[in-house]
Amino acid sequence: MASVPSLASTVQQRLAEGLSAALPEAGSADPLLRRSDRADFQANGILALAKQLKGNPRELAAKVVGAIPANDVLGEIEVSGPGFLNITVTDAAIVRTLAARAADDRLGVPFNESAGTTVIDYAQPNVAKEMHVGHLRSAVIGAAMVEILEFTGEKVVRRHHIGDWGTQFGMLIQYLEEHPHELDHKDAEVTGEEAMSNLDRLYKAARRLFDADEEFKTRARRRVVDLQAGDPGTLATWQRFVDESKIYFFSVFEKLDMDIRDEDIVGESGYNDMLNETCRLLEESGVAVRSEGALCVFFDDIKGPDGNPTPLIVQKSDGGFGYAATDLSAIRDRVQNLKASTLLYVVDARQALHFRMVFETARRAGWLNEDVKAVQLAFGTVLGKDGKPFKTREGETVRLVDLLDEAIDRASAVVREKAQDLTEDEIAERGAQVGIGAVKYADLSTSAARDYKFDLDQMVSLNGDTSVYLQYAYARIQSILRKAGDAKPAAHPELALAPSERALGLHLDAFGELVAETAAEYAPHKLASYLYQLASLYTTFYSECPVLKADTAEQVENRLFLCELTARTLHRGMALLGIRTPERL
Ligand code: ARG
Repeated sequence: MASVPSLASTVQQRLAEGLSAALPEAGSADPLLRRSDRADFQANGILALAKQLKGNPRELAAKVVGAIPANDVLGEIEVSGPGFLNITVTDAAIVRTLAARAADDRLGVPFNESAGTTVIDYAQPNVAKEMHVGHLRSAVIGAAMVEILEFTGEKVVRRHHIGDWGTQFGMLIQYLEEHPHELDHKDAEVTGEEAMSNLDRLYKAARRLFDADEEFKTRARRRVVDLQAGDPGTLATWQRFVDESKIYFFSVFEKLDMDIRDEDIVGESGYNDMLNETCRLLEESGVAVRSEGALCVFFDDIKGPDGNPTPLIVQKSDGGFGYAATDLSAIRDRVQNLKASTLLYVVDARQALHFRMVFETARRAGWLNEDVKAVQLAFGTVLGKDGKPFKTREGETVRLVDLLDEAIDRASAVVREKAQDLTEDEIAERGAQVGIGAVKYADLSTSAARDYKFDLDQMVSLNGDTSVYLQYAYARIQSILRKAGDAKPAAHPELALAPSERALGLHLDAFGELVAETAAEYAPHKLASYLYQLASLYTTFYSECPVLKADTAEQVENRLFLCELTARTLHRGMALLGIRTPERL
């Protein structure tokens, strides 16, 4: 394990050295290095510096260049325009740094030196309810962030804050008590689909009765009280709903090729024991006040349409606890017991106000302090092709499972069409990997905050910014490596590189910085876009540079080396996004 400094950081350092040697009065000015189309890099920092020092930027730039000691990384440095530096690194430096990356399991990606503990709240469906596309987003983005953060050395604790508590359970439990066989299974093994359809049927029947029958309504309300009082029989029936729902959740997560663990499921009910104390602490400290019987927290800047302040209600006037009390208790648990330094919530942007109020309340109560960061990684809405929130023709919420199945079907058709030597089993397996990958990638490749259109045609397209395109790029490289026979990938820094080799190489070299940026900004779309560029640069390289038919044996080896490192980087990057890269497609 050795982290490898990127060429960008080496160049940056050389320039900074040149700067302070040439202009000691400039202190530790930033040369502002960027990747550039004109050369490999461009440094713009001297312009601002010249202004500050009231000097001529071109002269200063020339002075800096003169002060950089001879070295084997920088090829050419040219002063251009009003005082930019255009910098080209040597071919040898590119190949040498890539060889160092290739020698490392982690591709030279450094660990974050200030890593801490992040508790990430994601994949939080609701008991006895169908999962929908919103739950998909939280699961997909959350799972990617788990992998990315862990890869940078962060300790990650996963929490699935499922909706498993609330007044609606009175109605469900009462109904099941009165119709005790409604959740019985025909066979010992029940599938997730069956479990969900039982729950759904029961939910609808209970709702109907609740709306039509006053006496049932009364019994259901009494049941809520029993549930909150911890009556053992009532709790046992409640548990049946939770267990049945988990069968369904796990079947969906499995279809999503996602590793969700039972011990990380700590739903709203998991904080029941803390709720009274949370309220007491808030009231005693004056953070919350009683208002019309309810326990409320007020904010100067949060007002409703009528101009009156909108409070966060921690306890309702009937004594019931809501969503806020649970989330505040969860914060106490995560900070005090789990020792979180960061709380990350992957939750729909439409809950932004809730989290703003919850975080602010926790800060006032001292449960969050300067040492703990709380962030909502808010995501936008999934839209249909018509640009409206995704619904069926009948206006109902689309079942997540139906969407996933359709994605897998479409992907299997694509795989079958391109398959040359795949068996039926392999087509089915690849179809699932490609279909699920397509759904995840579409979700991850636009910035989370934005809405996106769920368009399966586009998602499984072989051209464009799709996971299929990336998966084919990976499989194509594997096929080249298989065909190489005795020729083995090997780095040859003595060879001159073609422009497309340089472009590919410099991009490969930037992987570590990109991962760090993705982790720090909670922005998986940056990784997706990096990988897409990588595949595109590879495609150009491959069309311009023959690999197995290159001129010399050394060149064959060096190009195979570039192929292999590209494949490993694609594989690693896709894995961080939760997407498989089949060896053959
Ligand atoms: N179960 C909620 C929903 O379906 C999401 C829970 C988000 N997490 C939280 N700590 N409030 O919308």
